[in-house]
Amino acid sequence: MAEGDELYQMVFKVSEAFYEKLYNDPWLKDIFKIIKQDIITSQQTDFMVGNLGGPRKYCGRSPSDAHPHIFVDEEMWQLREKYLVEALEETGFPKELGEKWLKIDQAFKSQIIKSSVSECVKRYKGDEIIYVPNPNSKKAA
Ligand code: HEM
Repeated sequence: MAEGDELYQMVFKVSEAFYEKLYNDPWLKDIFKIIKQDIITSQQTDFMVGNLGGPRKYCGRSPSDAHPHIFVDEEMWQLREKYLVEALEETGFPKELGEKWLKIDQAFKSQIIKSSVSECVKRYKGDEIIYVPNPNSKKAA
């Protein structure tokens, strides 16, 4: 299956809608400013196409190795997932495949979320720890 094929196009549409939401969210946009939207959109597309039965083109870091420096808590996880569910629905992605997508995401959850910023680890010398408190929780802090 090549780039122009149906699965690729469908996954790309979801990824595009998904990151458009993340890059416009007042909290998540600050997490994602370390990477260009079109790059992560195409990385996520390649990663998911490979995991949903298409060709395994993705050769970047595994999700478990891609986030040790980012402080992701349960609240951030839930927000990201809400946008993913919306993107799957809005683009008319097939329901069964969408459920598979969500399961694949969930499989990485315990490796990505952290209970404290001190659990964040730099991936290489010079890497930066990404910690962005939720701007909407400021009053509570
Ligand atoms: C709330 C949860 C998540 C957040 C905030 C998040 C955020 C990010 C950010 C900011 C990057 C860029 C890292 C960098 O370049 O330094 C990244 C990379 C990536 N993420 Fe996530 N992510 C989350 C969950 C996931 C999940 C569940 C998956 C897959 C199932 C995933 C797949 C990837 C992939 C494939 C990359 C590119 C890896 C690389 O080449 O470095 N992410 N993520």
